[in-house]
Amino acid sequence: MPSSLWPARRRALATRAGTVAVLTTLVGVLLPAAAAHAEDRTVRGGRLDWGIKSSFQSYVTGPIARGGSTLQGGAATVGGSQFRFHSAEGTYDPDSGNFNAGFSGGVRFTGHKKGGAYELDLTISRPTVKVTGGSGTLYADMVSKRKGSGEVASAAQVPLASLDVSGIDMTGGTGPIALNNLPAKLTSQGAKAFAGYYAAGTALDPVSLSTDLAAKSGSGAPGEPSPKRSERSAPSGGKTEAGRIEDAAVDWGVRRTFREYVTGSIAKGRWKLTGGAKDGGALFRFPQGEGSYDAKKQKLDADFAGAVRFTGKHGLDLALSKVAVEVKDGKGTLSADVDSKGDRGATLRNAPLITFPAPERQLKPKGGLVSLTEVPTKLTADGAKAFGGMYKAGSAMDPLSLAVAVDADAKLPALPDLGSSPAPQSERAARAGGSERSERKTEKAVNASPASSDSSNAVPIGVGAGVAVLLAAAVGFGVVRKRRGADAPEASGTSDS
Ligand code: HEM
Repeated sequence: MPSSLWPARRRALATRAGTVAVLTTLVGVLLPAAAAHAEDRTVRGGRLDWGIKSSFQSYVTGPIARGGSTLQGGAATVGGSQFRFHSAEGTYDPDSGNFNAGFSGGVRFTGHKKGGAYELDLTISRPTVKVTGGSGTLYADMVSKRKGSGEVASAAQVPLASLDVSGIDMTGGTGPIALNNLPAKLTSQGAKAFAGYYAAGTALDPVSLSTDLAAKSGSGAPGEPSPKRSERSAPSGGKTEAGRIEDAAVDWGVRRTFREYVTGSIAKGRWKLTGGAKDGGALFRFPQGEGSYDAKKQKLDADFAGAVRFTGKHGLDLALSKVAVEVKDGKGTLSADVDSKGDRGATLRNAPLITFPAPERQLKPKGGLVSLTEVPTKLTADGAKAFGGMYKAGSAMDPLSLAVAVDADAKLPALPDLGSSPAPQSERAARAGGSERSERKTEKAVNASPASSDSSNAVPIGVGAGVAVLLAAAVGFGVVRKRRGADAPEASGTSDS
């Protein structure tokens, strides 16, 4: 989307005084926690952001391979150049510092189309990062078509990249763990997947990750509470009582290229979720659907909680709220209120934004759940207005998933768990002035430690790398936590959540 859509507008920066106040408070709060007795931890929830190799991405999408990438298993993109894997699971031993986190999701690169098939066809999924004894490795499942023979080689958890974790003290962590911009190099096993174009040792894009920790015996980090049904405004319009909906959620990522534009180098922006909406990385979940379902007529009508607001440079400010879904006659429509500012802004109420096919047979409940999974969607004329005319009516938007529990015992599908940690460094450019400034302080202080003098890696858990480092790391991390904490009642997710 060209920048002309959103006229340039100056943003107010957070005051320095506000930042300093937060810093002072958190030193006291976080030190006792960091000094607490080490306890075995389970890694649960979190994300890994990695561009794999930017020149490979350019080559795949460029004039030689004329291809692209598709996301699998809930993986998302961040900005224009990184893939986000999610739902970390693993183990962490604070005494030894051994860390093992496996993430979900994958990315498939295809290119060099010949006939109906692709000669370049490489899938990298389920990255796992292991740090042990001062060295780090990234493993992944790889499926790769050989150049020439077209033979498909498939292997699980191949050591793909060695990660430079020198200077990072992994021991003693009690809270979320964030490893930022770890330099990565291709291993010899990894090189095989790239048709011999890269030698072992070739630099790959740096890897950033953050994960939550839970005590092994504990039940895990508490999720952010979403508003209770009773706190929501009453659904608009008269609903029939044909069939009770116990709970429902609609998942829609709007459009991958739009999200990439928002968090990318043009808009340098973010999204903020409020009112119980949740961030699944590549999709937004609007929960707590209320309405009616008529099994006989194959009709469904539901209003959902939550809102998403995209903001960024050049005046980008687009909010979608009061999401509603109607399904009838084999067709579905998602409507919402639209509040978009700027030259080509629009204010629309209960406007149909996208339509999607909903064939009758798909609306039959299974196990008390009516669900549509990743159905293709098309932009409506109103939807085109919502995006300032940048996408034409009829354009393909992100797929939509709908889950409606018609039985009180039915459970809605889980969302990718991105964890609660601060954003990896790669996203920092997208932050507002205040927090960006405070984070730079952290990096400088961490870099200043003898143990990591030439690295920008930051482990907010660092104990033993010197009190000054610990203080600085705890403070920087705390700022993010505090800021998010302040948002908590309203925001259940942002692009940097
Ligand atoms: C019909 C088959 C293929 C042809 C004609 C082809 C052609 C090329 C050419 C001409 C380049 C040089 C690009 C440049 O220097 O800008 C290149 C680069 C590359 N190709 Fe292919 N390729 C093919 C299949 C594959 C396959 C199956 C893979 C496996 C993943 C692959 C991976 C790569 C990689 C990793 C690079 C280096 C990209 C970079 O970082 O600059 N290619 N290819």
